[in-house]
Amino acid sequence: MSQEQNLVLIGFMGSGKTSVGVKLSYRLCVPVEDTDKLIERKEGKSVYDIFADDGEAYFRQLETQVLCELVKKSGLRVYSVGGGAPVREENRKWLKKLGRVVYLKVSPETVYERLKGDFTRPLLQGPDPRGRIIELMRERAGIYESCADIIVDADGATPEEIARRIEKQTGRLRKRPDGE
Ligand code: S3P
Repeated sequence: MSQEQNLVLIGFMGSGKTSVGVKLSYRLCVPVEDTDKLIERKEGKSVYDIFADDGEAYFRQLETQVLCELVKKSGLRVYSVGGGAPVREENRKWLKKLGRVVYLKVSPETVYERLKGDFTRPLLQGPDPRGRIIELMRERAGIYESCADIIVDADGATPEEIARRIEKQTGRLRKRPDGE
């Protein structure tokens, strides 16, 4: 991978971090890890149930703990990170330590269209998901930008196209042996 650094995908819910992470992992021949999945494995339940049973504050503690543990891991990887993780200042330090931070930037409308039938994001289950997306994005856009080494426009593109754009911007590609 470029400059022997991990790639760390950040961005709003529905920006495509998980699916782009999988594509990048394939293209760069490195494993991918997703912080939400690591948390779910650790707790033995879904993010939704963690929010419901233990509260958001508990989930945020787990998120920080997982990031702190990932920084100690060796070996190159692609990481996709829950949309709220960069909000905590401490987490931004871990994200920077973890690798090159790539912000997948999308519009509120894209998020709404992608997530309108989704029941797994506890923060968007209220009566006005569109308004909530706009509000949260307004709060977070500057945070994502300040944390990012690279910003990629992820509106109207497939995960494969976004993965290719990221590869272009991060330099050397490790092509798969089959030339894909
Ligand atoms: C959250 C994003 C979710 C998940 C949790 C909270 C957020 O991850 O961590 O529901 O605060 O934006 P995705 O960004 O993968 O949806």
